[in-house]
Parts: sequence; structure tokens; C-alpha cells
Amino acid sequence: MSNENQILELALSIARQAGELLMNRPASWDLTVKSTAIDIATQMDHASEKLIVEAILSARPNDGIIGEEGADREGTSGFTWVIDPIDGTVNYFYGLPGWNISIGVKDSQGVLVGVVHSPTFNSMWHAVRGGGAFLNNEKIECNNPVQLDKALIATGFAYEVKDRENQIEIIDQLILKIRDIRRMGAAATDLCCVASGMVDGYIETGLKEWDLAAGSLIAREAGAVVTTQIWRGMELTIAAGPELFKQISRAIPE
Ligand code: IPD
Ligand code: CA
Ligand code: CA
Repeated sequence: MSNENQILELALSIARQAGELLMNRPASWDLTVKSTAIDIATQMDHASEKLIVEAILSARPNDGIIGEEGADREGTSGFTWVIDPIDGTVNYFYGLPGWNISIGVKDSQGVLVGVVHSPTFNSMWHAVRGGGAFLNNEKIECNNPVQLDKALIATGFAYEVKDRENQIEIIDQLILKIRDIRRMGAAATDLCCVASGMVDGYIETGLKEWDLAAGSLIAREAGAVVTTQIWRGMELTIAAGPELFKQISRAIPE
């Protein structure tokens, strides 16, 4: 088996194990506050990251790790795992569906393997760079071409409330020009929904590497354009099929 297929199989297996752990919701919550008072981690975010990191290191002890909950580790193999142990913690905490486990593996050329597992959607997305994108092992493609006035666009909002003033300005402009907005609650699921045509586009500012690593590879491998550029001092991510991507980019306020 090639190196990338070994990594993919391991990532799929680890994502499934973390999914099983997380489907057993705890009877009570132990919450930690992070960047702002509304940015939380539960004990399950930490338990999921621990399971993922231990499984990676027992199979591939020389790989590096970047984990949202702090499991950072330099590697020597040239491969680094970028983990969001629960993407969509607020959904998870409230018992809403759509949260995911996001696992990306990067090498010197960028993200090589991406796996996003959303057990409450019965969905396992995956991609290997250059090999297309898949949902539950079926090949997927993003919607293209889509005109802006027919577009269903997903978005999300930062935990930093002052960033929301700018985010709201984008939505304020877009909502008058598109079919509708969806705020589902998990960035990697949003990117995978672009990949599988369940929304037409996605836009959000302030995403972190672990939000983007796996989902952006999956969206790109499904034919979407995914960029992150500086806008008003923030990192603005746009994902959509090539035609809609151009139209969304033109509709962003100065
Ligand atoms: C968050 C979710 C949310 C997005 C936030 C992310 P977390 O991730 O993806 O949809 O709007 O920007 O931080 O904190 O639940 O891992
Ligand atoms: Ca996240
Ligand atoms: Ca998270």
C-alpha cells in the first residue's frame, strides 16, 4: 500500500473510533472557556483529541501533530496531522447534529489526506490530493456553474464578537443577492457540503488551520476553489465552484 493510502486508512479508522466515542454523550458537562466566554471545549473535545493522538502515535510515532486542544508535537517523518477533535462543539454540547471529527495530514506540499466524519449525518468524507473527493466512498463533485442569485451559501460566525460586525456586513450584502444562507455550526462540515453539492458556497472569516485542513482538500478535490485572503485585517475564506467563486468574490464589500 502506498504511504498516502496507509495514512488515509489510518485516518478513516481513527475518525470512526473518535465518532463512536463521541456518540456516547456524557451525562454531565465539564466545560473549559477558551478564546472568549462563548468559545468552549467540553471534556469530550479533550477525550477525542487524546484518542486520536494516541492512535496516530502508536501507528506512526515519527509524525508531527497540531491539535486544537493543544496536542502539538514536532515530527521527523515529514507528515503532520492537523486535528479538530470536535468541529462544531456548540452543536455537540446542545445535542444538535452536524458536528464532525476533522483530520488532515500535510506534507511539504500542503494537505495530502483529508477525512471529515460527521456521525450524526452518517457521513464520512475523504480525499487524497490529486485523487478526487468521496462521501461514504461515492465520488462527489461540487455544484458548478451556479449563478449568485440561485446560490445557497453556508457561513459561520467568530467567537470574537467584534469580528462579527464585519462578518454581518458580508451577510448583509449577500443575503439580498442569493437564494439563502445556512449557518450549520461546523466549518469542516460546511466545506464538505460544498464538496458534495449540499450547499453551493461557503464563506467565513477567522478560521483556524484545524477547521480548514481536511475540508478544504475535500472541497478542492471535488472541483471547488477554496481561498483564504486578508480582508479588513482578518482571514476571509471563500469556497465555491469556480463560477460562483468569482461572483461571491465580487460581492464582498470593500
Ligand atoms: C467552530 C465551528 C463553527 C465556526 C467557528 C469554528 P469549533 O469550530 O467550525 O462553525 O463558525 O469559526 O471555530 O470551535 O466548534 O471547533
Ligand atoms: Ca473547529
Ligand atoms: Ca474544535
